[in-house]
Amino acid sequence: MLTVDAPLATDRLLLRPFRRDDVDALYDLRSRPEVLRYLYWPPATRDGVRDVVAQRLTMTTLAADGDFLVLAVELRSTGRLIGEVDLSLTSTEHGHGEIGAILHPDAQGHGYASEAVAALLDLAFDVLGLHRVTAQTNAGNEASTRAMLRLGMRQEGHLRQCVAFGGEWHDELLFAILADEWTARR
Ligand SMILES: CC(C)(COP(=O)(O)OP(=O)(O)OC[C@H]1O[C@@H](n2cnc3c(N)ncnc32)[C@H](O)[C@@H]1OP(=O)(O)O)[C@@H](O)C(=O)NCCC(=O)NCCS
Repeated sequence: MLTVDAPLATDRLLLRPFRRDDVDALYDLRSRPEVLRYLYWPPATRDGVRDVVAQRLTMTTLAADGDFLVLAVELRSTGRLIGEVDLSLTSTEHGHGEIGAILHPDAQGHGYASEAVAALLDLAFDVLGLHRVTAQTNAGNEASTRAMLRLGMRQEGHLRQCVAFGGEWHDELLFAILADEWTARR
């Protein structure tokens, strides 16, 4: 079991549980077409984001299959919320988890997503004791693909037409890394 109830610091970031006053920053993130382009989400409304933040307040523990940990990503230098990262427990029996990341466009291209996801991989393998962590992204999402490969994740699959959204079928790429592979990279 893993609970994050206090901020985790990396070199440049704080990964912390969401707070009620994160609604404006999360709305700013989730209402941008360039952020949503590969996420299969309808455009955000402020009320919808308020509900999302309310859910996020309790998404701080991984104890059972299907649990999600979602953390706000804050820049240590300014305190600004620049995105969110998530780790979900997909199979306790097989030691599987899945990670994801979303950054504000202003904050992309600085290595912040890789830095935040690396901290989640540390938690996944060292604290939770997982064996394998995966990530899935739209096949056209080049920035996400580069980030996964930069972290040492291996592309294991190209899933043809596996998501139906907006009246179209979308291909996804599947990436994975094993505990001993992550240990060897550090
Ligand atoms: C996917 C996403 C999080 C990747 O963000 P990102 O900032 O490109 O990823 P990283 O943190 O790995 O940053 C790497 C980039 O920063 C650059 N960089 C600059 N300074 C750096 C540093 N100190 N350390 C590492 N990289 C640095 C790298 O050269 C690299 O640029 P490149 O991809 O053009 O080669 C971002 O594109 C995003 O939020 N997209 C919208 C939401 C989304 O689709 N999420 C994925 C869903 S599966």
